[in-house]
Amino acid sequence: MIWNSTEAPADTARERALREEFQRRYALCEEELTTLYLSLYPGQRQAFEDFGQMLQKSFLERPAFMLEADEARLRDPRWYTGNGMLGMLMYVSAFAGTLQGLRQKLDYIEECGVNYLHLMPLLESPAGRSDGGYAVSDFRRVQQSLGDMSDLTALAVDCHSRGVALCLDFVMNHTSEDHAWAKAARAGDPEAQSRYFFYDSWDIPDAYEKTVPQVFPTTAPGNFTWCEEAGKVVMTTFYPYQWDLNYANPAVLRDMTENMLYLCNRGVDIIRLDAVPYIWKELGTSCRNLPQVHSLVRLLRLSCEIVCPGTLLLGEVVMEPSKVTPYFGDADRPECHMLYNVTTMATTWHTVATRDTRLLKHQLAQVFALPREHTFLNYLRCHDDIGWGLDYGFLEQFGMGQVPHKKYLNEYLTGRWPGSPARGELYNDDPRLGDARLCGTTASLCGIEAARRQGDADSMERALRLDLMLHAYMFTLSGIPVLYSGDELAQENDYNYHADPLKAEDSRWLHRGDMDWLRAEKRGDETAPEGRIFRGLRQLERVRAAHRVFDGGADVWLVQTGDDGVLGIGRYHEGEKLVALFNFSADEKRVSVDELGECADLLSGEDADMGCIRLPSGGFVWLLCDFTKGQNADGTD
Ligand code: GLC
Repeated sequence: MIWNSTEAPADTARERALREEFQRRYALCEEELTTLYLSLYPGQRQAFEDFGQMLQKSFLERPAFMLEADEARLRDPRWYTGNGMLGMLMYVSAFAGTLQGLRQKLDYIEECGVNYLHLMPLLESPAGRSDGGYAVSDFRRVQQSLGDMSDLTALAVDCHSRGVALCLDFVMNHTSEDHAWAKAARAGDPEAQSRYFFYDSWDIPDAYEKTVPQVFPTTAPGNFTWCEEAGKVVMTTFYPYQWDLNYANPAVLRDMTENMLYLCNRGVDIIRLDAVPYIWKELGTSCRNLPQVHSLVRLLRLSCEIVCPGTLLLGEVVMEPSKVTPYFGDADRPECHMLYNVTTMATTWHTVATRDTRLLKHQLAQVFALPREHTFLNYLRCHDDIGWGLDYGFLEQFGMGQVPHKKYLNEYLTGRWPGSPARGELYNDDPRLGDARLCGTTASLCGIEAARRQGDADSMERALRLDLMLHAYMFTLSGIPVLYSGDELAQENDYNYHADPLKAEDSRWLHRGDMDWLRAEKRGDETAPEGRIFRGLRQLERVRAAHRVFDGGADVWLVQTGDDGVLGIGRYHEGEKLVALFNFSADEKRVSVDELGECADLLSGEDADMGCIRLPSGGFVWLLCDFTKGQNADGTD
């Protein structure tokens, strides 16, 4: 397919070169693109032409600084898999008020060692009906209170000059009920209604409800909402003001892909595909992870490869492991570049609450067996709740049933369990299923908040150790570690949301508090919790970045510790071997591991003996054997 100069004369040599480049890239994908597109939209040749035109237009609008970034990344396609990557996730409003304010704070972000910055949704979204920005009413406008599109691009340019990649959400499953399409649909426009799922009666919605689970059973029960103005029922999987888009309509795919590429052209390097498993619906199914979803993701990937090949796709797939990995696609037909390590995250908090590493070992063994090319985003906390998607089949062999176990985890992590130092709150407590999820910051869940309130130095010591150990463990996994803004300073829960009627119903605001810049001033003070965590994390990050054994290409395995309370992870890469041990139990442990090599403790720099390692509760070690020591440059002894 060729769109040439008849519509827009290729007036400059640069434009001619760009058109040629577009056609070269398009030709490489054309066959697959055509087959895939027509499998979703049989016979819709004209719509396919329109889609291709849109790709070309988006490519011709790509700014010079992003074309340069594309070229650099094409030369080094695994640029994001090294041991030097460190992410941070934040709300612009909570961190710095505005995008301009954030530009002023880039020194702090760099001081944290961060080179991957994920900004929570910042596009226009109606106040009070925004789901934290995940109900977008205009994909081309920034929320007024944060700034405008030119501020976003200015920030992206600053980030690029500092080597920081920018990540933004692409909320593609739904729009806000205030989006122009939704407004037109409400007014009765049939074309606009065909972009959503509208029904004249409750018959079909009721039929869907038989097989579709609920996302927000307490805060937003049901998957459909009555729309008074249209006199129809509309599909709303998330909140009633978030209307599901109908991707069976090719105009939706074209316009939404164009919206995504628009963001890429503003300087966004990483696109987080929000709630991606939900984007195709079929009656009689769960409306999750349907095969068409994978075709759509592959189409987005091909679109990026043509228009903006330096862009990474991060899939938000909060599902059980067997549903997650298919979003990587196959080696010759890749879908997402990166996915969240969500089950590992939930299993980690299960391990904190039970002090028993058996499930975590079982989970990690599966992750470690995956191809090294699968890049996971590792995290302890994010803006969302912790859902207890654990491997209950495995837990049942130890007599842990799903409902009582979730109840235990929630009691422990909300501090209701006797002796628990954790301070969290429940989220979407569904009494029918006993299925509540959990909210809270890392520091509060580790016991830092309780210890500070009690003024108890020993408890504080234990809580700080646990917090650091969890981060060290996260840094030991392959992939990109992402800090949740505030965690670098042991920021605690923010209970103010209870008094805000727009937030009170949604306990996720507990861990979405404003950045406390007064606390940040204590980051150099080793005697304050803020300083202990900040400096501790910096040390871990520096060590990680300095040793190739943390590279995503390393072999990774479980090290036998002979103790259910202690997790052991081994890594090997290019002559460096790491043995990492983490004591999740309540007691001090003496561990001996059967791994070869003389090693040094990476944090103290001292020699260590693998035959006898002493770890306090919440303690950890990183032991390194360097097999290249004493070798000549050519590898001979
Ligand atoms: C994702 C977001 C979550 C939001 C939902 C609906 O799961 O992480 O915060 O509520 O999508 O857009």
